[in-house]
Amino acid sequence: MNTNYERYKTLLGKIADISYAGAVLSWDQEVMMPSKGAGFRARQLATLAGISHQQSTDDELGRLLQELDKDLSLSEKEKRNVKRSLKDYQERKKFTVDFIETLNLATSEGFQAWQTAKQQNNFKLFEPKLEKLLELKRRECEILGYTDHPYDALIDQYEPGMTTKSIALLFTNVRKQLVPFVKQIAASRQNDNSFMKKQYDTAKQWQFGLDVLRQMGYDFEAGRQDLSSHPFTTSFNPLDVRVTTRVNEHDFNEMLWSCIHEGGHGLYEQGLLPENYGLPAGEAISLGIHESQSRLWENNVGRCLPFWKANFKKLQALFPENLEGVSVNDFFKAMNQVKPSLIRTNADELTYHFHIMIRFEVEKALLEGSIKVNQVPEYWNSKYKEYLGIDVPDDTQGVLQDVHWSHGGFGYFPTYSLGSFYAAQLYAQAKKELQNLEAEIEKGNSKPLLSWLREKIHIHGKYHTSEELCVAVTGEKLNFDYFMDYAKQKYSSIYELKQVI
Ligand code: CO
Repeated sequence: MNTNYERYKTLLGKIADISYAGAVLSWDQEVMMPSKGAGFRARQLATLAGISHQQSTDDELGRLLQELDKDLSLSEKEKRNVKRSLKDYQERKKFTVDFIETLNLATSEGFQAWQTAKQQNNFKLFEPKLEKLLELKRRECEILGYTDHPYDALIDQYEPGMTTKSIALLFTNVRKQLVPFVKQIAASRQNDNSFMKKQYDTAKQWQFGLDVLRQMGYDFEAGRQDLSSHPFTTSFNPLDVRVTTRVNEHDFNEMLWSCIHEGGHGLYEQGLLPENYGLPAGEAISLGIHESQSRLWENNVGRCLPFWKANFKKLQALFPENLEGVSVNDFFKAMNQVKPSLIRTNADELTYHFHIMIRFEVEKALLEGSIKVNQVPEYWNSKYKEYLGIDVPDDTQGVLQDVHWSHGGFGYFPTYSLGSFYAAQLYAQAKKELQNLEAEIEKGNSKPLLSWLREKIHIHGKYHTSEELCVAVTGEKLNFDYFMDYAKQKYSSIYELKQVI
């Protein structure tokens, strides 16, 4: 037994205990906590975050990682764990306590200013705080270091290995291919989706959501679903993974898509191996790969016809008056309505990427200094006109709609699009390898798909980077063509497009 490696595992296990205890408190804050508890809860969370930071930058851990990194007796898997932990350690060590505290303060002030600015529909109220956050983020890029573009340093934190250049290339494809395709759809006859917005009993919706999660293979003995205003997934270990959803009595879409989306995230977390608890091998690869799992279930499975051939009759029996005379095909078309709109979180799966492309362009321009903070609303609005063909009426529905920048989350948005693009490529591969994949889904059996995802992706944790995983599973790097093929095939039939450009 390698005593250094055992000690390293013990130390990482303890750090994980602290951070997952924090995750339990955060989950409780969103789902259960009475509002008066907020003050003390914030303090408890800050204390735990402090302890976790202290332990994960401890000198003993640093020495141990340096020694293990040179240890040739380790197995390939152990070496990978050590390499990833060493990289994380070195990055954390680059930040002084002073910088972290300044950033924490700027984000909490930023969040408050953003809330007020959004409520009052006035970007000017957020502008000085955003300026401050941007200045700190520029410093962060210098502290972390980069080769080509400062934005690379920020993207790397969420999607290790991805660069500004590679993401810009993906969005060039979006601009050249997806933008004209959506214009072609917009010019054709729109499908009816009014029956999705009738009155749907919330208790019955909840039951249906649980059934869908069961069908996906979500393990209720290693997780549970609750309600929250913003749906999310959190994990305390692979045997206790929580998902949340929201239910809107007048729009069936909200519960359905949050439930399947978060279920996809949950399956990834439940698929990590308990024996790797606390180690990189026991963690998800990146936000982009995480999102690929939620999008694959939500879009490639959930928004496709075979899934509804298995489920529509059950739904119709639950809501006979709402779905009387609606065929499974009508339902399928309704859930796949493509329509340019203002708000990212309500967007369909195609125009969604225009929203992300705009945020990417704004972030890149801000970091480079090619636009100034006070020019952001104007720049934003002109991009919405250019890509989505719509006028932004005000800042609340425009530049202030998302919370991310107020948290200092620059470089985060692109991972949403990466998720869908990875999902399309992974799903195309699953279809190739599993001959009867969609025939089984049509019977309500998604076990073959889940086993495939477990074996190819989930159990490996962070063994690969996202690019390595993509090559290992599909034989090539991320390729936008898979998403475009999926989009063309699906939507040219939904919109009866004669000739697809
Ligand atoms: Co997600």
